[in-house]
Amino acid sequence: MKTGVAIVGAGPSGLLLGQLLHNAGIPNVIIERQTPDYVLSRIRAGVLEQGMVDLLREAGVAERMDREGQVHEGVELALSGRRIRVDLKALTGGDTVMVYGQTEVTRDLMAAREAGGATSFYDVPDVELHGLKGEKPWVSFTLNGETVRLDCDHIAGCDGFHGVSRKSIPTHALSEFERVYPFGWLGLLADTPPVADELIYASHDRGFALCSMRSPTRSRYYVQVGLEEKLEDWSDERFWDELKSRIPEDVAARLITGPSLEKSIAPLRSFVVEPMQYGHLFLVGDAAHIVPPTGAKGLNLAASDVSTLYRILLKVYREGRTDLLERYSPICLRRVWKAERFSWWMTSLLHRFPDTDAFGLRIQQSEQDYFTSTPAGLTTIAENYVGLPYEPIE
Ligand code: APR
Ligand code: PHB
Repeated sequence: MKTGVAIVGAGPSGLLLGQLLHNAGIPNVIIERQTPDYVLSRIRAGVLEQGMVDLLREAGVAERMDREGQVHEGVELALSGRRIRVDLKALTGGDTVMVYGQTEVTRDLMAAREAGGATSFYDVPDVELHGLKGEKPWVSFTLNGETVRLDCDHIAGCDGFHGVSRKSIPTHALSEFERVYPFGWLGLLADTPPVADELIYASHDRGFALCSMRSPTRSRYYVQVGLEEKLEDWSDERFWDELKSRIPEDVAARLITGPSLEKSIAPLRSFVVEPMQYGHLFLVGDAAHIVPPTGAKGLNLAASDVSTLYRILLKVYREGRTDLLERYSPICLRRVWKAERFSWWMTSLLHRFPDTDAFGLRIQQSEQDYFTSTPAGLTTIAENYVGLPYEPIE
């Protein structure tokens, strides 16, 4: 078998890259470890930056998002009961975010790929990458009991943090940067109307909480929990009580609770690998970097990587500009590190760290006060939250 770009992983990175390339007439094949149903069962974040919204439109997969997604012009911070609205639109000169679940983005991309007739293989557990530094790379895997060899020009490693792509690069060729946080997020999804029209990020003595949403009838809430916490100890009732204790009283009084559709605990981590390219292999999205979810940057960073790789590959296939390939990693990493910084900073600003002393707490309060009481502080939050600009490829 032969293709142009072999894409490992059918998460949002792989599917969006595949769609853009397919529309441009660049042949590509997606190979995914899980089944489509499994991929669609994962509940992830739901805030899209303008850059990602534009890219989904460019890929021709934005019709349902434009119909059902909600444009948000602001977010709210609740800092020990004090409430501040960050007016994203006014502070950035017109930028907003789109609330539309990652699961729905994935569903739309899968449907478009199927409709367009591009090749995807699901339920493939044993992908291996070969010839990354050779003349031409190839990918091998088992299909219906037979070993398949897929020859290609380039490999896009879109297989997430635990995928095979990053692990196929010799460790001496990579530098890894990591921060593990001493807490996680317990998330709950419910078919209840959201408690507010905009997202509320709450910092409280008992810990961080977030009120988010998927639609006018579906809510997503989170509370910061210790790493030792076990899901089975968190009944829905206990979750709702804890959430109410951390958000402003009038908001808590309005909260409509209901049975959880999903509940899970996710640890928080920052991670970056450098470089994001090894020979013919390009790491995209979670395969190359992880951010803590505060600020909702994970999916959006995946989209900016996809945009960069797509624009480079267009020039490679249309104009023979293979010189651009080595620009992929430095271009991506500049934006990646800025989003890493913002996600780390929002996390530090809003969470309770178990080992913080009285001095550290006062500094945190003062930082919250400073950033929310000056136009400069609010603008820096707003411009990062809506997403920094995508970098041009040349
Ligand atoms: N072979 C094939 N596919 C694999 C392999 C493998 N060895 N390992 C993992 N995969 C698949 C996973 O099953 C998953 O469907 O790769 C896909 C990776 O998808 P994501 O983890 O969603 O990563 P990505 O597409 O980069 O999406 C961006 O950023 O912060 C997050 O929530 C955000 O998940 C989103 C991500
Ligand atoms: C979510 O809706 O799941 C969500 C929103 C904003 C975040 C993180 C998660 O910062």
